[in-house]
Amino acid sequence: MAKYKMLFLVSLLIGIASLHAQDPAIQKRVNDLLKQMTLEEKIGQLNQYSGKAVTGPASNQKTNLQEEIRNGWVGSMLNVKGVKDTKEVQALAMQSRLKIPLLFGLDVIHGYETIAPIPLAEAASWDLDAIKASAQLAAKEAAAKGIHWTFAPMVDIARDPRWGRIMEGAGEDPYWGSLIATARVKGFQGEQLGDTLSIMACAKHFAAYGAAIAGRDYNPVDMSEVELWQTYLPPFKAAAEAGVATFMNSFNTLNGIPATGNDYLQRTILKGKWNYKGFVVSDWNSIGEMLNWGYAKDTADAALKAIVAGSDMDMEGRNYRRKLVQLVKDNKVAIKLVDDAVKRILYKKFELGLFDDPNRFSNEAREERVINDRANRLVVRDMARKSIVLLKNASLPGQEDGLLPLSINTKTIAIIGPAAKAKRDMAGSWTVNTDSTTFVSFYEGFAARYDNSKLLYAKGGTVNASSEAEIQEAVATAGKADIVLLAVGETWDMSGESKSRADIHLPGDQEKLFSALQQTGKPIIVVIMAGRPLIFNSIADKANSIVYTWWLGSEAGNAIADVLLGDYNPAGKLPSTFPRSMGQIPLFYNHLNTGRPYTGTKENPKNKLYLSAYIDEDNTPRYAFGYGLSYTKFAYSDLKLSKTSINNKDSIVVTFKLTNTGKYAGEEVAQLYLRDEVASIVRPVKELKDFAKVKLGAGESREIRFTINKEKLSFYNKQLEWVTEPGMFQLMVGTASDNIKLKSSFELIK
Ligand code: NOJ
Repeated sequence: MAKYKMLFLVSLLIGIASLHAQDPAIQKRVNDLLKQMTLEEKIGQLNQYSGKAVTGPASNQKTNLQEEIRNGWVGSMLNVKGVKDTKEVQALAMQSRLKIPLLFGLDVIHGYETIAPIPLAEAASWDLDAIKASAQLAAKEAAAKGIHWTFAPMVDIARDPRWGRIMEGAGEDPYWGSLIATARVKGFQGEQLGDTLSIMACAKHFAAYGAAIAGRDYNPVDMSEVELWQTYLPPFKAAAEAGVATFMNSFNTLNGIPATGNDYLQRTILKGKWNYKGFVVSDWNSIGEMLNWGYAKDTADAALKAIVAGSDMDMEGRNYRRKLVQLVKDNKVAIKLVDDAVKRILYKKFELGLFDDPNRFSNEAREERVINDRANRLVVRDMARKSIVLLKNASLPGQEDGLLPLSINTKTIAIIGPAAKAKRDMAGSWTVNTDSTTFVSFYEGFAARYDNSKLLYAKGGTVNASSEAEIQEAVATAGKADIVLLAVGETWDMSGESKSRADIHLPGDQEKLFSALQQTGKPIIVVIMAGRPLIFNSIADKANSIVYTWWLGSEAGNAIADVLLGDYNPAGKLPSTFPRSMGQIPLFYNHLNTGRPYTGTKENPKNKLYLSAYIDEDNTPRYAFGYGLSYTKFAYSDLKLSKTSINNKDSIVVTFKLTNTGKYAGEEVAQLYLRDEVASIVRPVKELKDFAKVKLGAGESREIRFTINKEKLSFYNKQLEWVTEPGMFQLMVGTASDNIKLKSSFELIK
């Protein structure tokens, strides 16, 4: 874990330039090749088409694909996969004059054949090694299928759970999001490009796509510069510093300018300030969509604006292909812009070794071996267990311990609910390549471990609706059991791209089903499988235990059974705030304070008059960022700071004692937050600055240590400079952003 933090810090200190120095030998090969290319061939390299699968609106411009590839007018294909197909298509490129190999890109978001939890779930694990291993596995399988390039990681910060793509990122926090961006890039790309176990990654969607107004996909984004730099850019910067091979721009506007035509984002920041040497691919026809925005008057204008702004490759838009040649001939686009884009793309093809062997990723024997390797399942099962968050674990009357973990000797158990036997849903969005019939459903995972004669089942309806008869059948089944396991949630296609929801309550009649089951008086453990934070207040209030599993992938059922039966003590913590009601959205922990802060809570309300509050709702979330329980308990004590004042060159060592006071061995994610009390620009009420995931046996204690230095105290000021300002800082150590256990303060002096 520490090594990612180090890498993150070291790269910040050294700067990108020296980390990503280019290889002069490759540069020479690129330049030599460029000299031989016609204008048409150069522009061909900037052109990417989709193969059979469609992951965006169908293009209405017919293209004779084979002919175009043979002519050298295509640089990359997406959605062509598998050794047979990639070889076939690459063979066409080998018939072109210069035999420049194609790049094969694909959305390998959380696994290719073996599916890991959705990225938001993985972010709940607080385990960077596991996250890296998960990306590594995805890369290994994809590479074995002839893929060179994944359109991942999505590093968009998302604070609005209505936005369907919240499932694809790391949640709401820029610090955590940056560490995950680094781990995922390293996982996909390995130590260096060119080995056939890893593929190129793509940091997307540059930038601020996650801040779409009202959580509606593809909507505009309007935000201050400080907010952009402070919250939305850090994970992109981290990805660039980790050496991500490519960036993808985004569908949204940023302050009135489409990201695809945004030279401030792509040229000034990315290729300028950050000295980024990889290439930028547009999103699916985002160049052409500038017409709809009203930012380009026709396709030629769109192509011109995109290339000038720094978009290097046109994904499935045909704008460059159709218009760039003429624009260059008419001297409207400088050839040096085209050359720069081509060089960036060719460089990556050389780095991947494709000029030496265009089919080096496409090997039948390797495809067969890697895809069918059952050991892959162990990686995603480990990741799945780590991604589960225990939200509630009340004890039964007269008992001290929570209802979970279940004893294997429990009497009769009723497994009920529309999600109980679901398989396809466990894959979540962005898993077009897998065969989900091989997935382990919750029911199967549990049944494999539990005496089947003691298991009852009722579906209780679908995620969308339950009939009275289905509810009654479920109630009757529950009546025969000692404990009810209720599996509810969303279907896989309720989140992901273009799956924004205006209402994020648990869908259909699932809360009604819960209430009916509750009438039986049986203890109920609710397992919620979903692609976003949901609202489920009656369950939150009344269920005995709640386990939030997100969508866990191929091994979902086994991982959930591991947790429910206590073979794995859950340690996940939420990477996203869960609101109480829709009207609170967007709700996130690292907000500003307001001039009239309201400090009451649901449990301890205060007078709200003339304070920043809702008269009909509390300000606090249902579950806060960083929240999650364990079967054991942890105590925090003995906070010590090595000093109480530092200057910019100094650092403070913070130590405290963490003790497992419960009965089980378990892991705690201890979190360090800071608050800059007074600054030249208002700073958040708290910001995550460090964390430690610590495993302790029952009764065991350990001293935990964090270091605070200038980097942790810096922020972007009004001039967008990364600075510190002298003054007091509050320091908070806790088990969740709303459950601070230890507090102190220190001063930063000049
Ligand atoms: C559109 C999505 O926004 C992007 O993330 C994805 O990579 C492309 N389509 C290609 O499928």
